[in-house]
Amino acid sequence: MNIMSWCKVRFLSVFLGVLFLFSCSLMHECNARELDKVGDGDVIVEWLGHGSFLFISTDGKRILLDPWLSTNPRCPGKYRKKGGFEKVDIILWTHGHVDHFMLDDAKALVEQYNPKIIAPWELNFFIKSEIPEANCQIFTLGNKGSSAEVDGIQITMTEASHSAGAQLTGFEGKNRFVGEAVGYILGFKNGLKIYHAGDTALMGDMKTIIGDFYKPHVSILPIGGVFTMGSEEAAHACKLLQSPIVIPEHYGTFPVLEQTADKFSQLVGEKCPGSKAIVLEPGQPLVINQTMIFPAQQ
Ligand SMILES: [Fe+2]
Repeated sequence: MNIMSWCKVRFLSVFLGVLFLFSCSLMHECNARELDKVGDGDVIVEWLGHGSFLFISTDGKRILLDPWLSTNPRCPGKYRKKGGFEKVDIILWTHGHVDHFMLDDAKALVEQYNPKIIAPWELNFFIKSEIPEANCQIFTLGNKGSSAEVDGIQITMTEASHSAGAQLTGFEGKNRFVGEAVGYILGFKNGLKIYHAGDTALMGDMKTIIGDFYKPHVSILPIGGVFTMGSEEAAHACKLLQSPIVIPEHYGTFPVLEQTADKFSQLVGEKCPGSKAIVLEPGQPLVINQTMIFPAQQ
């Protein structure tokens, strides 16, 4: 390599490095800007990769849903560390599969934060048998169709069409029946309702019960295919649910799953004019304020 070529390569690598650092700082700034806009009545939604979510309620309660942290390839590094969360008030589990309920993660979260735990009835008892100190709300909310107020949040357990056994020792290990899979609707004090479908197939309940009766403003839907709905089914689910905001999840984790939400976003744009698809990056909080959801009331 002559001196001119070396200089060109050197210049290009320095330029790309500066560009990368600038992009990182811009991304960080965007997150900070979003958090700056948080008001008392706002709710924050943060995707932790795959089916895992962190919600922060209008009065600062931290709710984790299906926290799969330690071996989740898309979980932000800060949440894999001990003490990664400021606090955890409630954990919701949708079913026992290891990519949603990982026993080691559950033990660590219980030990660090002592959260209230909501899970399907049989999974609750399994958790208690494996983690005796777990604060399972077994008699508060234990089955599909029931609702309860927990820490000021109205939580409803919904149908989900999926299997649900617990894998005790990872993806290769023994399996145990721990009840059926569910979804959740979270009703916050400002009137906002968020539906997390859990792992599910497309199902009629999305119109007849969840869409028509509960009317969620935000629906979080699996789009990855293979184990759940794919993009086409999820886009049809958006038509049934009629939520103003839809958020894709359960994709891009493994090579067998859909790798991006591009197709889902395109289909929502074409088929669901009343819904806007918001594609999150893991670790990037989304502030949902009342202007986004209830524009007519402002
Ligand atoms: Fe899953």
